[in-house]
Amino acid sequence: MANPTLDTLLNHRSIRRFTAEKLTAAEVTTLVDAAQHAPTSTFSQQYSIISITDPQQLATLGDITGHHWLEKAGHFFLFLADQYRNAQLAPKTSTTTANLHSTDKLLAGIFDASIAAEAMVVAGESLGLGSTIMGSILNDADQVISLCQLPPLTFPVFGLAMGHPAEQPEQKPRLPQSLMHFTNHYQPLASTADLASYDQTIADYYQSRGTHQRAETFSHHIAAELSRDPQQRAKLAQVLQAQGFLNSLP
Ligand SMILES: Cc1cc2nc3c(=O)[nH]c(=O)nc-3n(C[C@H](O)[C@H](O)[C@H](O)COP(=O)(O)O)c2cc1C
Repeated sequence: MANPTLDTLLNHRSIRRFTAEKLTAAEVTTLVDAAQHAPTSTFSQQYSIISITDPQQLATLGDITGHHWLEKAGHFFLFLADQYRNAQLAPKTSTTTANLHSTDKLLAGIFDASIAAEAMVVAGESLGLGSTIMGSILNDADQVISLCQLPPLTFPVFGLAMGHPAEQPEQKPRLPQSLMHFTNHYQPLASTADLASYDQTIADYYQSRGTHQRAETFSHHIAAELSRDPQQRAKLAQVLQAQGFLNSLP
């Protein structure tokens, strides 16, 4: 099966090097339009997008993420979970307030932002642009909140650096479907053969790719990710609480 939409989806790779060409205002509007047409939970549109164009702010985001290449992107979008807009337009009752501060609404904001961001990624790729979603803004969520003057009941979920690609990296091979697509019930890792084969595929990928070559299997990669000091982002729960989320059940 093949069509242009599937081709775009199946050709995805994150792009971290861009030409000097900035996105036009029309391109930015089209990308936001595509993001806006993504589904949203209960049609409540519980996210917002901030275009960061100020070089000082971009430099600070470069410091926070450790990824200064974002400053050279054609455009940088910040995706927020946003219950603040609805707080402003809804009647102020105790039920409304309890709902807006709930875990359910925090999650809804996060998935609305996430689904919209992926729609923007795919729209960009369909136009020949490339991008990288940047969760590393959460290295200092507090600073991002003050940098962009985010009100309560909002939370910065991730950045999205988008631009004209100046690289064509190899695609990262995905897990075999046997390890991630199940029927009717969950399947813990039973057969190690598929995992061993995927580990070898990833080891080959890391060995042969054009940049940052290393000797690492997928299992090694996950072990390394999970051995990071959890204290690095220990403040996240506090920041969420300071923004008005996760303070009480439900
Ligand atoms: C939620 C999320 C956060 C991410 N954060 C970063 C990031 O901070 N920096 C970065 O270089 N890539 C980031 N990425 C991109 C992933 O590293 C990338 O998608 C993954 O390695 C697979 O590579 P591919 O997108 O080229 O297929 C993020 C992706 C997601 C979905």
